[in-house]
Amino acid sequence: MKRLDLGSIMRLGELGDFIIPFTLRAVSDLGIADLLIDGPMSVADLAAKTQAHEHSLHRALKALACKAIFTETEPGVFALTPLAEPLRSDHPMSLKDVFTLLPSDAQAWAHLSHTLRTGEPAFDQAHGTDYWTYLAAHQDESVRVDLWMRSINHLHLRTVLPYFAWGELSTLVDVGGGNGSFLAGLLTKYPQIKGILFDLPHVVAGAGLFLQPVKDRAEIVPGSFFDTVPPGADAYVCKTVLPGFSDDDVVRILANIAAAMRPDSVLLLLEAVLPPGDDYDVAKLFDVHTMVLTGGAHRTTERTAQLLNRAGLSLTEVTPTPTLTILRAQLSATGSDS
Ligand SMILES: C[S@@+](CC[C@H](N)C(=O)[O-])C[C@H]1O[C@@H](n2cnc3c(N)ncnc32)[C@H](O)[C@@H]1O
Repeated sequence: MKRLDLGSIMRLGELGDFIIPFTLRAVSDLGIADLLIDGPMSVADLAAKTQAHEHSLHRALKALACKAIFTETEPGVFALTPLAEPLRSDHPMSLKDVFTLLPSDAQAWAHLSHTLRTGEPAFDQAHGTDYWTYLAAHQDESVRVDLWMRSINHLHLRTVLPYFAWGELSTLVDVGGGNGSFLAGLLTKYPQIKGILFDLPHVVAGAGLFLQPVKDRAEIVPGSFFDTVPPGADAYVCKTVLPGFSDDDVVRILANIAAAMRPDSVLLLLEAVLPPGDDYDVAKLFDVHTMVLTGGAHRTTERTAQLLNRAGLSLTEVTPTPTLTILRAQLSATGSDS
């Protein structure tokens, strides 16, 4: 292998830099893309409208422009580019709230070597408490995480819903359903379904806003899935929840869902599944993110099937979608394996 491979050195330089990700997020948080909707604007005006420091903002925008995120149309004047468009808050698939700079996340990432050495979540090392307890005590950041989830949910509603026969359901519980934005989208599309949003009290506290358009068919139930889950629904949805937890915790959550299910209920796990091999798959990136924040893990289909079995459930169908995979399960005829 050639030692002095300049192409690889330059490429690694680009892949290894955290300058663009941080700059992108901080600039996105300022709302710069929204200010450029009607056309190019000077940095002086952008800085004045966002209470930013003009020279610093200019330097940040120049760095992004060299990656085609914004363009400097003339010295000191910037415009949107195709890559900057999704940072607009009015974009149908807006990533503005996804590319947000959450200081608590960034501090956790700075402790990644702790995770690599010990297997413990970097978040706990950085903050002295676990991710969920931290968010419960920091309402401002919890709200930003909610907005992040709402944006991701726009993408998931569009890409996942076409792959399951939701029209056959009358009742559904969204277990760990967050702020209700996924359930709201689902109920809007399927007016025959009555849904329950089930999540921790401080999380569902803000859900009324999202569920307002479907409030006649949506019930909000606060609680912990480590205690109990609302019983007797046709379907239990658990979307991007289990990767946040250890294997043993997942079995406890699944066992509580199983205890709530009727014999003919269906459980739908919607999550990113780890594929084998070296090919790019966002699940491999999310897996490290999960490891840093909560200490959980994304899993292969086989691993999830084993955890389902331990909780008295059987995996019956696996349906990939352009984003998440739908893992369908039902109560095992024989009950729990553990
Ligand atoms: C990654 S979020 C996914 C939220 C939602 N399913 C979605 O896809 O938008 C994980 C959710 O699990 C919830 N959660 C964590 N611990 C919980 C518990 N003990 N009981 C119920 N929900 C919990 C969190 O509050 C959060 O809303």
